[in-house]
Amino acid sequence: MSTLVVAGLQWGDEGKGKVVHFLSENADYIVRYQGGNNAGHTVVFDNKEFVLHLIPSGILEKGKKCIIGNGVVIDPEALIEEIDFLESKGIKIKNRLFISDSSHIIFPYHRILDGLREKIQNIGTTKKGIGPCYADKYARSGIRMCEYLDRTIFQQILKNNLKEKSKVISNISKLKKEIFRNYSGIVKKIKDYVTDTSSLINDLVVKNKKIIFESAQGTLLDVDFGTYPYVTSSNPVAGGVCSGCGVGPTKIDKVLGVVKAYTTRVGEGPMPTELNDKIGEYLQTKGKEFGATTSRPRRCGWFDAVAVRYAVMLNGCKEIVLTKLDVLDELEKIKICVGYEYKGKTLAKFPSSRKIVENVKPVYIELVGWQKSIKGITKFKHLPINARRYVRKIEQLIGTKIRIISNGRSKEETIVVD
Ligand code: IMP
Repeated sequence: MSTLVVAGLQWGDEGKGKVVHFLSENADYIVRYQGGNNAGHTVVFDNKEFVLHLIPSGILEKGKKCIIGNGVVIDPEALIEEIDFLESKGIKIKNRLFISDSSHIIFPYHRILDGLREKIQNIGTTKKGIGPCYADKYARSGIRMCEYLDRTIFQQILKNNLKEKSKVISNISKLKKEIFRNYSGIVKKIKDYVTDTSSLINDLVVKNKKIIFESAQGTLLDVDFGTYPYVTSSNPVAGGVCSGCGVGPTKIDKVLGVVKAYTTRVGEGPMPTELNDKIGEYLQTKGKEFGATTSRPRRCGWFDAVAVRYAVMLNGCKEIVLTKLDVLDELEKIKICVGYEYKGKTLAKFPSSRKIVENVKPVYIELVGWQKSIKGITKFKHLPINARRYVRKIEQLIGTKIRIISNGRSKEETIVVD
């Protein structure tokens, strides 16, 4: 298998960073295809914790190369901060990072607009300017990396953009100064990484190189298929790889879905299995459920098989990675949501309407917990019987094989299920 998409199947934070880091041992290139520095991928490497926002976690693996595709939106200052951080930890970036010349740039005015819109919409965004940057892209007024690097063209396009933004943002000249304050230094620092990444990726496919495409956020935050409008502004679904990297669907060999053994969500919007009780608090504390980008506490709840079944369909995944199973270790009883009830009827599928998702009543089944630490277990057959039952039940409910189980933060704490 040469090309693999690793996609999140819930509301993000499924543990994709660790999974990609684990799989990148057998890959040549790791590629991001959407989102921006709203993402936070936490990886434990060499006993140290790394939080990456833009650069794929494969960069931590010696000799692996990373690509940021055209579908990603890039805040140049955040990018440089991340490059500097990795270099300060002794990780070499030169000749290992390739950034699309067609990726769109996030400017300070995007962050300001994000904050202003939040006052009205209350989506609970990361306020990193993601939505407004994608809005400019689709309004055809965005500034791409290739234009940003060319000062003359950049100045022309920026002038029009600032004129438009000055209608809603005051003190635009201060903002202009801010954009140009570090401009030359930024360009100097990033220009060597910028290239036509879609040609690069297609060449790699021809050469049979092993490529992992990693999603940021998750399927239920997808702008088309998630719980709209409480979503991000891109397509984390596996199909996003095609437009986010410039590769045709026939070039994708396999899609691997990542799900957490329970559910979390950060930000506003419906979450049918949310628990506002002691168990919710337990999951939050034991699972260290705090946003890697904004440090906000994540909302926690039981595993939602209705939502994940929907995500499996949208991504076309045939295999699953189940993460954070160890977080459930101490629970006496574990519930799984197997259906949604709405106005006295059981719904056959995940609803599109926000009004319905907000008002469904989850239907649960209850399983007996294993109440034993599963840390250090490396084989599926050595897991307690009730943990195996939980895994098999999820498989049955979502109709997909669980291939890998994560039972700890480091790469070594991983069980490959035969
Ligand atoms: P935005 O992507 O900053 O516009 O935020 C839109 C929604 O997506 C908010 O609910 C955020 O909390 C959520 N979100 C964005 N990035 C992530 C992520 O990496 N993990 C989890 N939620 C995210």
